[in-house]
Amino acid sequence: MEPRLPAPQGAFATRAVRASLTVPDVRQRPLSPAIWPTTTWAVDDADELGDLLEDRRDGYVYGRYDNPTATTLHTAIASLHGAPAAWSHASGTAAIHALLEATRAGGRIVATDRIYGGTLTLLRRLARDAGWAVTHLDLSDVGRLAAELPEDTTVLYAETIANPSTSVLDLAALAALCRERGIAFLVDNTFASPYLCRPLELGATAVVESATKYLGGHADLVAGVVAGPEDVVGDARRATYEFGGSLGPFEAWLLVRGIQTLHLRVREASRNAAAVADLLAGADGISAVRYPGLPDHPDHRLAAEQFGGRGFGGMLSFDAGSRERARAFAAACRIFQRAVSLGGTHSLVLHPGSTSHRQLTDDELRAGGVAPGTVRLSVGIEDPDDLCEDVANALSAMQAG
Ligand SMILES: Cc1ncc(COP(=O)(O)O)c(C=O)c1O
Repeated sequence: MEPRLPAPQGAFATRAVRASLTVPDVRQRPLSPAIWPTTTWAVDDADELGDLLEDRRDGYVYGRYDNPTATTLHTAIASLHGAPAAWSHASGTAAIHALLEATRAGGRIVATDRIYGGTLTLLRRLARDAGWAVTHLDLSDVGRLAAELPEDTTVLYAETIANPSTSVLDLAALAALCRERGIAFLVDNTFASPYLCRPLELGATAVVESATKYLGGHADLVAGVVAGPEDVVGDARRATYEFGGSLGPFEAWLLVRGIQTLHLRVREASRNAAAVADLLAGADGISAVRYPGLPDHPDHRLAAEQFGGRGFGGMLSFDAGSRERARAFAAACRIFQRAVSLGGTHSLVLHPGSTSHRQLTDDELRAGGVAPGTVRLSVGIEDPDDLCEDVANALSAMQAG
């Protein structure tokens, strides 16, 4: 039998309005958390409210600050990354902004030159409008970086796996350099997810992820997360609610659901991507097949070590030879969907030259490690034979055209 609750009292309108105030005190443990969409929480007196607003006591006060569904999410993210604390944000970009705010301390941000385009746009805006000092450097040669790093650097910003080249950075070596120089080392781990790589275990100060990708995993939510020490996450949390970029309870709930199958999805995507990469590596008329799991990938050994043998992820790229051929390949795919984003159950195909990197000339593309004919695949969890057949058919159609 369900518990009986005290019924709302008063006239009809009062009972109608107060209908939402009777919430069962659930004593059994649900396997799925509750979604609390309430924007505000009632307390017994003004002092309690003041204490909650000033963080003098734990609890909930206002929806822009946090919500209990997000608390379940934060606990899960901290646990997966082996972090003392974690927080959630309205998007990966909002999480990156909050984390940079929390760690910059007025100094220079040195960011990888193979950076996600949206983060590049964010950094350019902050440099232009807020006067932030930002420099982009190649982080793949740590010895050279040590010589090039400007004196006023306070943050080094890396991405575990670069887009779309799939280069893998040596996070432990970069962390050691940052420790030596007293620099905060931040890692965008979106492409790897905590199943493959846990940058905090390698010495990073804090990790950030677009949870829109592998953590959510079903292309049905936009979110970001940050994990790291209490003080850094606490500052990122304050930046988030002051800028107004907190995550709502519905997305937090979807993320908690998605995370339960993260290991299965990343394992399956890695297995499928390896099969597709093998097929592409042996195919005629294409070049530069980049998948960290291929033995001839420049960072294969590093990736195998850094990802603990758990796989190499679902992202890969290759050069079809020209813009036209890349577009013909993408157009001929039937299972791979032509769409932006990545890391979901569905396999996706993207021609960066006409989509994510469309504003760049061919020379600018090459300078950023992208060829005009580069095709990027986000391999999902469909059947590997069907995916390989789709790629083989698309290659044939491209060659015939
Ligand atoms: C590596 C990486 N970091 C950050 C982001 C930004 O995430 P969001 O779109 O959730 O703001 C993306 C989005 O594609 C990404 O690929």
